[in-house]
Amino acid sequence: MSKKYVGIDIGGTNLKAGVVDETGTLLSAAKTPLQFTTPEAFVETLAGLSRQAAEAAGIGAEEICAVGMGVPGEVDTEHGTILYTCNIPLADLPVGALFRRYLDVPVYLENDANCAALAEYWAGAGKGCHSLIVVTLGTGVGAGIVLGGKLLRGINGTAGEAGHMVVEPDGVPCRCGRRGCWEQYASANALKRITREAMERCPDSALWVHCAGKLEQISGRSAFQVARECGDETAQAVCRSYVRYLALGVVNLINLFQPDVLCIGGGVSNEADEALLHPLQRIVQQERFGHDPRRTAKVVKAELGNDAGLIGAALLGRMETK
Ligand code: BGC
Repeated sequence: MSKKYVGIDIGGTNLKAGVVDETGTLLSAAKTPLQFTTPEAFVETLAGLSRQAAEAAGIGAEEICAVGMGVPGEVDTEHGTILYTCNIPLADLPVGALFRRYLDVPVYLENDANCAALAEYWAGAGKGCHSLIVVTLGTGVGAGIVLGGKLLRGINGTAGEAGHMVVEPDGVPCRCGRRGCWEQYASANALKRITREAMERCPDSALWVHCAGKLEQISGRSAFQVARECGDETAQAVCRSYVRYLALGVVNLINLFQPDVLCIGGGVSNEADEALLHPLQRIVQQERFGHDPRRTAKVVKAELGNDAGLIGAALLGRMETK
């Protein structure tokens, strides 16, 4: 019988857990909105979600071989500790040890975008390729870099923190302490901010109707939806600006690493190809270094979609316990 692993994706908006088999197939998933009260309650929620996912996959908790967690920040893989995250109040949390009070299984930690990169490399858009970069567009912007089959971790495991490359000197303040980070222009949260600012400038935009006159109703999808459904000029300008900034960072990454494949994942990547992927590919083609079309990075959507982080987290357990 195939071994089963639980993957946990700690997101800025939702917590997700899923059971994955040895082939990287997701068998079940459970999710709940992130509500941060105390570290203990947080870890208890993670354990509860894992049990829920196991039940939904029709297995008992004792059949879980290992649990892997994707963390939106810096981790100490050796001690199973979350060291720092800039978008959730988690610091110096020995999550592995706390988790084992509820479920006694081996627990492994890795950065969330690194998990997504592992998943896409083994079971998604990067299967069979030499090098791959995954860029995740969610609450924050993350990147995972696999070169020659190995995850690039750097001296402290934080290699690939592409969301904190500055793309606008003296730009929007970032929670990491810098200003003008890519994350402030290319994340789902950034998309909401750019949409809000555009609405404030343009009281006639159809975006106001879409949001029933309330700025709090703006979501990361509003601009793309209104641009598509109403052809609204303000919404279209928001989408153009968003894709422009997204491309800026993507071209920088391609020029640095020249991977075989760069894939875009996270919630924003669910937008229609005509609105997101295709304009991104056009800008990348114009601006990247290396003009031989036979030897340039393919820019694609994450094949595992928004589940890549979850699947990759589960794969950590498989890699470590095999
Ligand atoms: C964090 C990264 C993370 C990314 C996506 C960024 O703010 O610094 O570690 O991968 O968000 O969650």
